[in-house]
Amino acid sequence: MSHEHIISNAFVLFVAGYETGANIIHFTLLQLANNPAVQRQVQQDVDRIFGGEDPKTWKFNDKINPMAGSTLATAMNETLRLMPPVIEIPKIVSPSEDQTIILKGTRYTIPRNSRVGLVVAGAHRHPDYWPTQPSEISDLPTDLDDWLPGRWTRTTANTPEPMVAGAETDNSDELQGPETSQSLYRPVRGSFIPFSSGARQCLGRRFAQVEILVALAVIFQKYSLENAVDDWADDDEVDRMGYDERALLYAKAIKRSRDTMDRAYNVITLSFHGSTHVPVRLVPRGEERFVSWMD
Ligand SMILES: *[C@@H]1O[C@H](CO)[C@@H](O)[C@H](O)[C@H]1NC(C)=O
Repeated sequence: MSHEHIISNAFVLFVAGYETGANIIHFTLLQLANNPAVQRQVQQDVDRIFGGEDPKTWKFNDKINPMAGSTLATAMNETLRLMPPVIEIPKIVSPSEDQTIILKGTRYTIPRNSRVGLVVAGAHRHPDYWPTQPSEISDLPTDLDDWLPGRWTRTTANTPEPMVAGAETDNSDELQGPETSQSLYRPVRGSFIPFSSGARQCLGRRFAQVEILVALAVIFQKYSLENAVDDWADDDEVDRMGYDERALLYAKAIKRSRDTMDRAYNVITLSFHGSTHVPVRLVPRGEERFVSWMD
C-alpha cells in the first residue's frame, strides 16, 4: 500500500470507529434528557446490574449479558434505528454476476457493477417492516419517527416478509440478554441495518455496542442528564417554581431539543454541524430539578 492508501484507510477507521459511536452516545443522552421516565428506568437497570461498584472493577463477562438485556440496550437500539450515524450505505453489485432480489413477491435483477445505496434511515422507518402505533407526540399516523425504546420490548406479533429474500444475515454474534431476550423485539431481516449486514457488516459492531452501553452505564450510575433551561429561567427562579410551572418550562426545553435534533444532517455521519447544539446539564443523582419526577 502507498502512503496515501495507509492515510486514507486510517481516516476511514477513525471516522467509522469514533464519530459513529460518539454520535450514538450523544443522541442517546439527548433523547434520555427528553424522556425522563426512560432515563429513570435506565438508572434502575444500572443500579440493579452494577449497584455502587466502581467501573474499574466491572467484569465484561459478568455484565455484558445483563446490559444487553436492559433499557441501556433498548435505548441504544432505538437511537441506532431513529438516528443511524450512517444513513446510507454504498454498495456495488459484484462485477462477475447480476444480482436478483425479491421485493414484495416481484423479482428484480440488478445488473452487475451497479451502484446501490442502502437507505438505512428509510428501512428503519418503514411501516411495512416495523410494528407501529399512532404517534403520541406528533400528528403522524405512526410512531416510527418517535424515539421509543419501549418498542423493543413490545409483545406485538409481527411476521412481515423479509425485505430481501436470500440475504444472508449471521446474527449469531448478536449481543444477548439471557434473562429477557425472549421478550425482545427482533426486527425482520433487512429492516434494521445500522451496521449494515452479512459478511461485510461493520467490523467494529460488537466493540461499538459494548463501548456505547458502558459509556451510558458509567454516566447514569452517578448522574442524571437534564435539558438546560437557562435561556428561560435562572436557578433561583427554577427553585421557586412549583411542579406545574417546572413541567411547562421543561416542555419548552424538550421542544427545542427535538427541533434541533430534527435538523441534524449527514456529512459522512449524521450529526450536528456548525454551532448547533442542545444545551444540557449533568447533575449528580438526587439533585435533579426535572427528570426525577416528570414523565
Ligand atoms: C437490539 O437489536 C438487535 C438486532 O440487531 C436485537 O437482536 C436485540 O434483541 C436488540 N436488543 C434489545 C435490548 O432490544
